[in-house]
Amino acid sequence: MTDPLSRCFEETRVRGLVLRNRLIKAATFEGKTPGGVPGEALTRLHERIGEGGVGMTTLAYCAAEADGRIHADMMYMHDGIRRQLEALIARVHATGAKVSGQLGHCGNFSKNRELRGHRPLGPSRAINTLGFAAGLPFAGALTVPQIRERVATFATAARFMQSVGFDAIEIHFGHGYAISQFISPRTNRRTDEYGGSLLNRMRFGLEVLEATRAAVGDDFPLLGKISMSDGVRGGVSYADSVEIAAMLEKGGLDVIVCSGGTSSMNPMLLFRGDSLLEGMIEQEKNPLMRAALKLVGPKLFRKYPYEELYFLEQARRIRDRVDCGVCYIGGVCTAESLAAAMREGFDFVQLGRALLFDPDLAAHAASDAAYVNGCTHCNRCATLIEAPGGIECVLRPDNFTVAPRSPA
Ligand SMILES: Cc1cc2nc3c(=O)[nH]c(=O)nc-3n(C[C@H](O)[C@H](O)[C@H](O)COP(=O)(O)O)c2cc1C
Repeated sequence: MTDPLSRCFEETRVRGLVLRNRLIKAATFEGKTPGGVPGEALTRLHERIGEGGVGMTTLAYCAAEADGRIHADMMYMHDGIRRQLEALIARVHATGAKVSGQLGHCGNFSKNRELRGHRPLGPSRAINTLGFAAGLPFAGALTVPQIRERVATFATAARFMQSVGFDAIEIHFGHGYAISQFISPRTNRRTDEYGGSLLNRMRFGLEVLEATRAAVGDDFPLLGKISMSDGVRGGVSYADSVEIAAMLEKGGLDVIVCSGGTSSMNPMLLFRGDSLLEGMIEQEKNPLMRAALKLVGPKLFRKYPYEELYFLEQARRIRDRVDCGVCYIGGVCTAESLAAAMREGFDFVQLGRALLFDPDLAAHAASDAAYVNGCTHCNRCATLIEAPGGIECVLRPDNFTVAPRSPA
């Protein structure tokens, strides 16, 4: 029998896609798309991750439409960036890694001044705290025809992503983005067929999944990232998420990525470690937003000390409930944790911060069962997503600036 750590490094498949191992670079919006255009900096980062030996990297954030962006320096899926995406994907493919794209929509929270109608739209009317300084303090409620249009934008974007060469798509069902705004009873107060029961709150997400599947066909891998809990009173609970996972499996999702938390209500649930608050205050240019952060920040950025495998207990419940692929994410920094995730029966492991610290993690862990990654979970990387040049590991700022390796 293969030992658990070796299982992590064996070739595997999702639908028709062959991956050289079970490690996937998690979606970490890198802030390297000025004007919404992916250029050399983003390409080099993903190429470097590929050189380090992961099975697949995830390009984020890929908005389904222009209005799906939180701000104008995020990509949305359209022909204007076809050439750049094709080039990026070709460079990663040359390393032997595959490329997934995280497809999402910001829904009711946006500070994008280019937004049509100057009001982000979500399941129900809401205050858009993120948009205060941009003059977008309110979010409106989508009408049913607008929901249908939004579903269609996911399908169109997915078709585009397939056409430029993405090997897989990860639909964002979590973290407080558009689909999770519908799933969460905290943000969805609708009384029509899109609100109320869990099935109704799942309707938008399931329609997105169905339309995306129809757009890309049966052989194309679809992953989905969920929040197992919103981490706020009245939100999605860990118990709900087991049912959510079962519905997504029935809807045809190939792999469920088990995350948690929401960017807008409880971000630290997913970013365990040092608080993001101090760094965000430092980076915030708008004095109004800086003052607001100082005021509400301590309540929003709750304390969750870092632990290895911090979502294990909850993700295990999903592993036990569904037969489709399940990907572990959250606090994997050692070869022992990779082995543990394999022993628990997960099919894949996604890693975010650990790969930003050590892009060669796959090679290092494959050859050393005692491997310990040096990420300190200072979370400075996450506070730099809107800094000039985007994110870097502050402990190893040169990780992604070195030239491509020449082929062996
Ligand atoms: C800089 C940074 C940016 C992130 N951006 C995204 C994103 O665009 N989409 C997403 O689903 N998660 C995002 N995340 C969360 C990660 O995908 C992951 O869930 C989290 O970092 C926990 O995994 P880790 O302990 O392996 O880092 C981001 C994380 C970091 C550090």
